[in-house]
Amino acid sequence: MARSSASFVCQSCGAVHSKWSGKCEACGAWNSITEEAAAVPLGNGARKAQKGRAFALEDLKTDDDEPARRATGVGEFDRVCGGGLVPGSALLVGGDPGVGKSTLILQALAAYAKAGGASVYISGEEAMAQVRLRASRMGLSEAPVALGSATCVEDILTTLDKGKTPGIVAIDSIQTLWTGALEAAPGTIAQVRTSSFDLVRYAKSTGAALVLVGHVTKDGQIAGPKAVEHLVDAVLYFEGERGHQFRILRAVKNRFGPTDEIGVFEMTGQGLAEVANPSALFLGERDSVSPGTAVFAGIEGTRPLLVEVQALVADAGYGTPRRAVVGWDSGRLAMILAVLDSRGGVSLSTRDVYLNVAGGLKVGEPAADLAAAAALVSSFAGLPLPRDTVYFGEISLTGDVRPAPQAELRLKEAAKLGFSSAVVPQDTKTCGTGLKLNPVKDVGDLIAFAGATRGTSG
Ligand code: TYD
Ligand code: MG
Repeated sequence: MARSSASFVCQSCGAVHSKWSGKCEACGAWNSITEEAAAVPLGNGARKAQKGRAFALEDLKTDDDEPARRATGVGEFDRVCGGGLVPGSALLVGGDPGVGKSTLILQALAAYAKAGGASVYISGEEAMAQVRLRASRMGLSEAPVALGSATCVEDILTTLDKGKTPGIVAIDSIQTLWTGALEAAPGTIAQVRTSSFDLVRYAKSTGAALVLVGHVTKDGQIAGPKAVEHLVDAVLYFEGERGHQFRILRAVKNRFGPTDEIGVFEMTGQGLAEVANPSALFLGERDSVSPGTAVFAGIEGTRPLLVEVQALVADAGYGTPRRAVVGWDSGRLAMILAVLDSRGGVSLSTRDVYLNVAGGLKVGEPAADLAAAAALVSSFAGLPLPRDTVYFGEISLTGDVRPAPQAELRLKEAAKLGFSSAVVPQDTKTCGTGLKLNPVKDVGDLIAFAGATRGTSG
């Protein structure tokens, strides 16, 4: 019986199926499975004939110091990488099309080149003229970046091998890469993975720092960067809400640095500008005080970040009340609503509830519970919260407020930005910040605080 050599691969997650289906059982993506010719396996005979070569096993101990980092000079980018790029490492920058990945990478390469480093930018998506146009728009035309336009990995590797090994090589993007070794079409997961693997091997053997750019698409039509995440040393995601100028670079995996670190940029007419004080940005205009807003003193990675949480509790028209959340977890909102109801006697079950984190930021910390609850209670009661107060603390299912890590950092940031008081879990110390603390032990205390203040700012 003839065996089919084709397999069906999900272009979103890389799962291999034996037959085609409309939905990938592994990741749930629809219409993402395509047929790919299986790579020709070496015959059994060939495998046996080639004997393995012994290699030396070594100690864990090393005399080498920490690898010297290659800082690009774009501070926010370097910090998210853990202090710069590590020689011989591979970094993947993923994000939606149009979010600004090419802009960011070009800027980093230009800064690195201007400081005397050798950087190479290979664009597979844009023609040289387009890249030059972008560079001139950003005022970077003079930077000595070596520019190339290519999609064939063999060509790229041959070109790179020819000259002196560059400090940083960026490939924009992995979706355009293809290798002659495979029959599959460019953009398929097999091509993306094999091409990326060859480039990563180049980086490891030469010591160049490799930056791969990859698009993430919601419909999973193009092979997702998910398929190469395990090949690289670090994965950064570049995110931004449409309609907002802010862009957030987030580390989700980093073998050489902390994850959960974020870098904040603003998209301007001349490229990306680094935002030195993100708290001021996410707080926005806070001149008018209306019910339903509370400032959360959060931590993103190693940095404190203040953000405004906004809630709106409105009369439900008819039918099931609506719950809509932007920038926060909807399951978490449901939990807070249940706790407010059963432990605090504030019942919102017949109301529409909307919750929004200002500025397009996504908050994942449980310590945001207290700020969300305060905003909800404030909107429900129609009473503004004091303007000069920040909130942090996790709410448990029993209604108790639990301590949050790094209270000192949070309070210091609040003090720096002119806040004068904080609603915090019990036993939190002022840490010399001079902030007036309002400890709350449970949601009852919080509701009393929100009701008692009646919008007086003091
Ligand atoms: P780009 O870097 O091409 O995105 P990606 O590589 O992630 O697909 O950025 C595209 C968007 O950025 C585009 O909508 C225009 C905008 N942009 C600016 O607003 N200012 C600029 O200086 C540049 C270069 C781009
Ligand atoms: Mg691009």
